[in-house]
Amino acid sequence: MDKGQIIEGKVVDFALPEGQGVLKEGGRVVFVSGVLIDEVCRVRITKLKKNYALGEVIDILEPSPSRVEPICPHFLEGCGGCRFQFMDYEEQVKAKERNARQTLEKVGGISWEEVDYEGFIPSPSPWEYRNKMEFNFGEKEGELILGLRPRGRYWDLVDLKVCYLMKKDLTRTLLKLFRDYGRNSSLSGYDPRKKEGVLRNLLVRYSSSQELLLGLSTVSVDLPRQEDLIEELRKNFPSLEGLVHIINNSPASALIFEDKKVLWGKDHFFERVGSVNYKVSIESFFQVNSFLSSTLYEKAAHYASLSGGETVLDLYCGSGGVGLFVADSAQQVVGVEENPQAVEDAKFNAWLNGRNNFTCIPGRVDKVLPLFSNVGVDVVIVDPPRAGLDKKVVRRVSSLSPQRLVYISCNISTFARDLLLFREQGYHLEKITFLDLFPQTPYFESVALLKKG
Ligand SMILES: C[S@@+](CC[C@H](N)C(=O)[O-])C[C@H]1O[C@@H](n2cnc3c(N)ncnc32)[C@H](O)[C@@H]1O
Repeated sequence: MDKGQIIEGKVVDFALPEGQGVLKEGGRVVFVSGVLIDEVCRVRITKLKKNYALGEVIDILEPSPSRVEPICPHFLEGCGGCRFQFMDYEEQVKAKERNARQTLEKVGGISWEEVDYEGFIPSPSPWEYRNKMEFNFGEKEGELILGLRPRGRYWDLVDLKVCYLMKKDLTRTLLKLFRDYGRNSSLSGYDPRKKEGVLRNLLVRYSSSQELLLGLSTVSVDLPRQEDLIEELRKNFPSLEGLVHIINNSPASALIFEDKKVLWGKDHFFERVGSVNYKVSIESFFQVNSFLSSTLYEKAAHYASLSGGETVLDLYCGSGGVGLFVADSAQQVVGVEENPQAVEDAKFNAWLNGRNNFTCIPGRVDKVLPLFSNVGVDVVIVDPPRAGLDKKVVRRVSSLSPQRLVYISCNISTFARDLLLFREQGYHLEKITFLDLFPQTPYFESVALLKKG
């Protein structure tokens, strides 16, 4: 095989999380973006590696019936927000399910005959499902722009008119309003390569009861024309709960809260899952797909299988999410969380919902876990960020010998890796359910029950 060579073939697999079709040619695997399983296509080889090649599609000779027209005008501009717009939703779910099952088999070493597989739950809505978006400011040809980064290009930006991942009418008005505000105020957009510029992010949080909370992140600066901005926002959004100015001078590309100042209203909003009300501060985590939060928490509660007398640990508890949801059925629940504002929210939420048996310990899970070494822990719930647990955490959780371990994960690869580590500690996967919390993207959530023996 040579670089530049044209090949024709059938797509035999679809690899996640990259979302690339897999062809086989001359004993080599060829990865191609923008093609679906079973499609026959003509491909130009663009890169040759030792064990595989990369190619770009020239023609789709036999398109899949699952191929659809992308609904968002920014998809073809390379916006990194949603990669799967060209396949119908049913096919997205199938591709994720295949990937989940293969990864757990290959990396997690499980045998499906020994696991109670409870299915892949699709999102009730494949569009406009997100309650949180983080848009970036930047500049193109000297003009301020506002949008999302193309995949793999942290310095680049697609100027968005609309985003369909969140309520489209809301994003359309917000993106225009903030872009106009920045331009009319002669504020520059931040360049992550040069580390220059003023406006960095627009953070939008929109609760299921339609409370709107906005954060404008900049380097240290006194924002001009604040009154005009607030007036314009209130005129357009009667459900606005607050506008917060976030200061972020950090060179990191992530949105970091070095300081915050409420410019108008409040710095938090409220969400409800089942019968539990949650105050969520602008910097605290909350499950992003409001349509599936209660299904996710109910599944976790079902796996925890509490009968009223248990001591439960809720590790990586955020604003108290799962722990407060199950607290009514346990003797006591102890949350652990490193974000100080989320810890405050969790404690407030325990009070708000009358869950006096819930407490939250601030700190990193690996540092806090030794405190429980002499406490009888019956059930441990973990819901770590994408990096998963580290070896030390797996060892420390296992040494508490909980009867049941409920693992909630947003990254199948790190979950599969941790599953192997738990196996070495004597835990096995008993039940698992997947939930599509992130339609149009390669990501999804897993909830699993692990038991000793
Ligand atoms: C995926 S969220 C889970 C939140 C919660 N379970 C819920 O349903 O809302 C992960 C949380 O872990 C926290 N976190 C990340 N690393 C941590 C660590 N090493 N120790 C403690 N908390 C951590 C984050 O601040 C975040 O709130």
